[in-house]
Order: sequence, then C-alpha cells, then structure tokens
Amino acid sequence: MKRLLLLCLFVYGTQCTVTDTFYDYSFQEETLGTAQPVVDPRGHRPLSKGSDHYSSSNAAPPPVSGPNRYRGRPSTTSTDESTREQQKVVQPDAGGCTHLSEKMGVMCPTGCELKTNILKQERTVTAAVNKLKTDVNELSKSSNTISHYVDGLSNALRERQRINQDNDNVVGQYTNDLEGQHAFVKTTVDTTFPSNIRILQKVLETLRDKIQKVEMAIMSQRTRCEKPCTVSCPIPVVSGKECEDIFRKGGDSSEMYMIQPDSFFNPYKVYCDMTTQKGGWTLIQNRQDGSVDFGRRWDDYRAGFGNIASDSGKGFCNNPGEYWLGNEKISTLTKMGPTEVLIEMEDWKGDTVQAQYEQFTIEGHLSGYVLATGKYSGTAGDSFLEGASELVGENRTMTIHNGMMFSTYDRDNDKWIPGDPTKQCAREDGGGWWYNRCHSSNPNGRYYWGGEYTKDMAKHGTDDGIVWMNWKGSWYSLKAISMKIRPFFAS
Ligand SMILES: *[C@@H]1O[C@H](CO)[C@@H](O)[C@H](O)[C@H]1NC(C)=O
Repeated sequence: MKRLLLLCLFVYGTQCTVTDTFYDYSFQEETLGTAQPVVDPRGHRPLSKGSDHYSSSNAAPPPVSGPNRYRGRPSTTSTDESTREQQKVVQPDAGGCTHLSEKMGVMCPTGCELKTNILKQERTVTAAVNKLKTDVNELSKSSNTISHYVDGLSNALRERQRINQDNDNVVGQYTNDLEGQHAFVKTTVDTTFPSNIRILQKVLETLRDKIQKVEMAIMSQRTRCEKPCTVSCPIPVVSGKECEDIFRKGGDSSEMYMIQPDSFFNPYKVYCDMTTQKGGWTLIQNRQDGSVDFGRRWDDYRAGFGNIASDSGKGFCNNPGEYWLGNEKISTLTKMGPTEVLIEMEDWKGDTVQAQYEQFTIEGHLSGYVLATGKYSGTAGDSFLEGASELVGENRTMTIHNGMMFSTYDRDNDKWIPGDPTKQCAREDGGGWWYNRCHSSNPNGRYYWGGEYTKDMAKHGTDDGIVWMNWKGSWYSLKAISMKIRPFFAS
C-alpha cells in the first residue's frame, strides 16, 4: 500500500508540471529539483569562524589624471558624406576578419561557439529524454504490477467475504473499510494511471520533436562551420590612436575601425561607438547574446577574445560582437592620459541604466592590471568605488572593485584568503574580473537567458551571472552590458 501511495504521489506531481504547458529542458529541473528563488545578496564571502580574516588594506592607486590630451570638441567636425564614401576604400588586408598579428581569436561572427553550446545542451536533453523514457516504461510496468496486486486484492476480498459470512457482525466494519479502499484504488488504477501515462507520452513526443529541431539547427551550423569563417568588412581608411582620434578625423559612423594607440604596437581592430554622448568611444567589453564564452584563462583575458564586429548587410561592419578587448590593450589605452569609462546595461524588459567614471586606469601587467577609477555618475549604482549597497560594513567593503588586481580561474589575485586554492572568486563567479571578496558587479559572468536565475542553476551555487548588484541584485543576470572608454576632456 505504501508503495502504491508513493506512486500516486509521483504521478500526481508529474501531472502538475505537465499541465503547466512548459515543455522545455528546464522541465527536468523544475520537476526534480526544488529550486526556490534565492533573494539574499550574495556577492560577498562573509568571514567564517576561526582564523579567517579579511584585509582590504592595499590603498587603491590614483587613476591617471592631469593634463588632458584633448581639449573639448571643436565646434565643427567635417562629416561630409562624400568624404565618408572615399574612406570606404578597401584595404589590401581587408576581407578576412582574422587579426593582423595578435591572437585575438576568431574575429568574425561565427556560429561555431553557438554550435558548441547547442551541442552541449543537446547532450543534456538527450540524456533527459532517455531518462524520461525509462521512467515512463517503468511506470507502465509498475502500473501493471499494481493492477495484478489489485486483482489479488479483489480475490482476497471475495475470499474474505466468503469466510466471514458467519462473522458478519464482528468483521462488518472492517470489510466496509476494505471495500472503500478497494474501490478507491481500483478507480485510480483504472482511470488516473492510464491518463497520466498518456500525458507523459505526449511530453516525450514533444521533447522528441524539439530534439529533432535542435538537430536540424546543429546540422545547418555544422555546414556553416566547415569552412573557416571570413567576413568581408571594408575597413575605413580613417584610422587613429583610438576612437576619439578617429572621430576628430571625420570618422562619424559607429563601426569597426583599425586603431594604433602606440607606434610600437601593431594596429588592431576595434568597434567605435560614434553616437552615444557625442561619440568617440572605444568599445572594450560587450555582452549581448551569450554567443561567446567568457569563462576563460588569464592569457585569453590578457590578449583579448571574441568577435569585434559583423556586417548586417549594409556593406560595413556596424554590428558589434561579444568581445573582451584584452587587458594589455586596455591598459595601454587607459595609461595614455586621463580616460573615462561608460558602462551601459540593459535588463530583459528593455530598461537601461548606466555607470560612468571620470577616470579609469588599468595598470600594467606587472601590477596584475590593477583597476583605478575616479568620480562616479550614473543611474546603475556605484559598484567600483562603493560596492554593493545591500551589504553593510566589512561585507560591503568585500565587494568594492577599485584597487583590485585582475583575476581569472587560473590566476588568483583576489582578496579571498589569498593562497587558498579553494577560495577563488574567478573560479566560482564565471569570468575574469577585478574580484575582491568577491564582487558587486560581474559583467564577464555567465550568460543566463531570461534574467532571473537561482543558486541551483549556478555551477557553484554562487551569483555567477552578468550581475550589477546595485541595480538588480545578485540573482538577476543582465541581457546586455558594455564598457566603452574615451580620453577624458571637459566638454
Ligand atoms: C556579513 O554577512 C553575513 C552573512 O552573509 C552576516 O551573517 C554578517 O552579520 C554580516 N556582517 C556584517 C558586519 O553585517
């Protein structure tokens, strides 16, 4: 009887989920896990008892300030359309989006990363469906077993009725109970079980259809990925030290350009935003669709990775991709003079906020690319200088990013028990960043579709999404975020 009740519970529970019309692989998690939305702030790692101790003692270095390289914008910039057309002459090296000489990885938009992701998911789904298949089979089997059991029960009942005829008065009550139970069990077995099995079979079919679709998508991706991808983006002739320089030379459309901040280094490609706040912004970080994996090692973050831009059909690369420009390049750019940073972000409803710092310097390689920022303004909340406003005291100090070195999962430079390999922010929080102990913002974290996520969905149970705590808290992963820099000049 106990087993039977358990089974009823299982079937009933499954039915609840099924009627949700939510047929996705998360179906598995929803049913099997007990995912409760977690709302506590999580960015910090509170002190544990014992010898655990936290020191934020190292003073943050001042960001590069002093005389500006640029005066305010000249009142007229030549934005003649004909000059623009001229600038579109295709350079000899244009045609492929591979980087000139540095290891920027694949620079053109490619389905390959997407493919890898889909393949990964497919494996999970196939496993889930197989499991489900077995479950349904087992359910059918147990349902048969139970039918036999009930038949046995029916026989026993008849037998007992016969034997007990003489003892009617004594056993009457007991028999009534037994009859009641028998009737209940019989209806359940005859009606509820088959209908539940039918529902499960429908779910199975839906999942099978989905897998077929995914498989088709993968096939098409596979064909596209057979050849190494090339994107023909004519690179504008106008070039400069960075995007502000290009803007002042007449490059007024937002697209991919070549820049050469320093004659000792090879020129490289970058996306310039020439419209936001009058333009001149060099894009150093961009997340928008989860197409690039940001859980990478030190050398990748150092050199940069991702896709700079793609052509949306206009004949030039005006669509920024997801990328990290690279710590070496960001450091060089921000040390040339006072530099400001603009961090723009968007949630899954389309609301946007921003954070801006008047000074933004990334120290060199030898210092571990220490972050140094100046005055904050904006609507997103001051993550770099103030930390998470939900937290107080030392807990909040643990989430301040200014003055921190850069950390990746293979290079632990954070303030969480240095030297202890089990206490590494970058390992738990999904990407490279200026982790303290650990973060109030995590723009290079994992990309979660849809925004809200839970502890159970995170790889290590930590808030490893694309987080900006002062706007959305720990358990909301943003749809898009980008970081742009520009030489600071009073406008
Ligand atoms: C720090 O956070 C932990 C839990 O996250 C809490 O128990 C502790 O009281 C907090 N400390 C302060 C100073 O607020």
